[in-house]
Amino acid sequence: MSSIELELKICALAVKKGLIEKEKVQEALDIKNYYAEKEKRNLSLVKILVKKGYIDEATIADLTAPAGPPNLEIEHVNMIPNFKWVKKVGAGGMAAVFKCFEQGEPDPVAVKVMYPEHTRNEEFVERFIREAELLKEFDHQGIVKGYDFGKFRRSDGVMLYWVSMEFLDGSSVLDQLGKQGRLDEATALHVIRGCCDALDYCMQMGILHRDVKPENIIWIGDEIVLCDLGFAKPIEKGKAGERSQTTCGTVQYISPEQAKGLADVDIRADIYSLGATLYHLVVGKVPFSGSDGGEIMKKQVKDPLSTKEFREANVSPHMHYFIEKMMAKDREERFQSPREVVDEIDTVIRGVESLQFKPNMSPSPLVNVGALSTDGTGTSLGDALKSAFSGKQKPVGTSSGSSSKLGSLSSKISGKLKARAAEDDSSSKSSKKLKIGGTGLSKKFKKRT
Ligand SMILES: Nc1ncnc2c1ncn2[C@@H]1O[C@H](COP(=O)(O)OP(=O)(O)O)[C@@H](O)[C@H]1O
Ligand SMILES: [Mg+2]
Repeated sequence: MSSIELELKICALAVKKGLIEKEKVQEALDIKNYYAEKEKRNLSLVKILVKKGYIDEATIADLTAPAGPPNLEIEHVNMIPNFKWVKKVGAGGMAAVFKCFEQGEPDPVAVKVMYPEHTRNEEFVERFIREAELLKEFDHQGIVKGYDFGKFRRSDGVMLYWVSMEFLDGSSVLDQLGKQGRLDEATALHVIRGCCDALDYCMQMGILHRDVKPENIIWIGDEIVLCDLGFAKPIEKGKAGERSQTTCGTVQYISPEQAKGLADVDIRADIYSLGATLYHLVVGKVPFSGSDGGEIMKKQVKDPLSTKEFREANVSPHMHYFIEKMMAKDREERFQSPREVVDEIDTVIRGVESLQFKPNMSPSPLVNVGALSTDGTGTSLGDALKSAFSGKQKPVGTSSGSSSKLGSLSSKISGKLKARAAEDDSSSKSSKKLKIGGTGLSKKFKKRT
């Protein structure tokens, strides 16, 4: 392709994307033709446009970037100093994550490096920095701990933004789904309960996660850790009815209010995404699919969950109900806080005596939950679930957000449990709200045990 052909292609793409008006390209072409004819000079069409201020070089670079999803391999980042780069361990929509060693440190760290394609987008850079700050500030077993962040300009001029954090030596729940297809209900509930603890902490800190999904949940032994605070933002009040500038989240798990672009999104949006995650865990596929993101978001707003899919995946009626309530279209009808979800799991679904998850008793917590002892009597969690709910609950309606409680176990809440709930409640109320941009912790976090 000749250089003028290439330039015309770039200009056509810019016009198509609405980045420049056709008339301006024509004006530049006229100038180019003029110089070619009169002075026998071959000027670059793109350079004329840049010189005239009609388009900037960064936009041109974006247009000429190779197609396909962004990618980063170890050789693209291993010049960032002070780390020994071991291997790539994950990749998402914004960044790639590598296992590294910091100079002089015996334990590995994970370093997340933002794709260079995104660094020209100020909003993406802001979000990345905010994620790094939050990870440093947050201190909760269920949320990946951040250590440090910075940027480094590569010799070719590309800026690399990075954040170092604790290395989670496990696998994402999505990877587990890839291996197993779906999880049994008790195991899935263990994942959800872990996420609720993390989300409860986020809520106390005044932050929404906004991207809860199996890919962002990591399983290490029996611990559940939420990662990727890339879309996290402070919970804003008093914006009812207003529209947000951007819609964030992953369409397969996004809440109806996020899909509609409402500004006053709150923790109940994360609860919806967690419900969609639970659906994926027990049904083995995402609740809604479609040919593009717009179609899927429309379904999140309007379509009911498919009763057929629940039935085909042999999902128990109480789990069906539980997911319906987490994914109610109207957030008023959902569980209102992560604590409420936990209470439902602990007191209603699992039963008061089934609070202990003991994966060490099984070779793999993901495949053999039926072998877990729940109360020392040898009753399996699977059996406990079955007997607790067999035939006792009302038929599950398909309408979202039925407020009826499940089964009869709720009446069995022990005094001990109530006391624990009260304790949790009072400690959460005394938590401070986080101010973004705070100083962060100077010391390294304790190691996960
Ligand atoms: N601290 C970590 N330790 C190990 N693996 C991680 C860590 N953080 C993220 N990952 C893996 O890398 C993937 C991408 O990271 P994530 O933060 O989700 O990036 P993105 O913002 O691009 O989605 C995750 O899905 C997870 O599998
Ligand atoms: Mg992610």
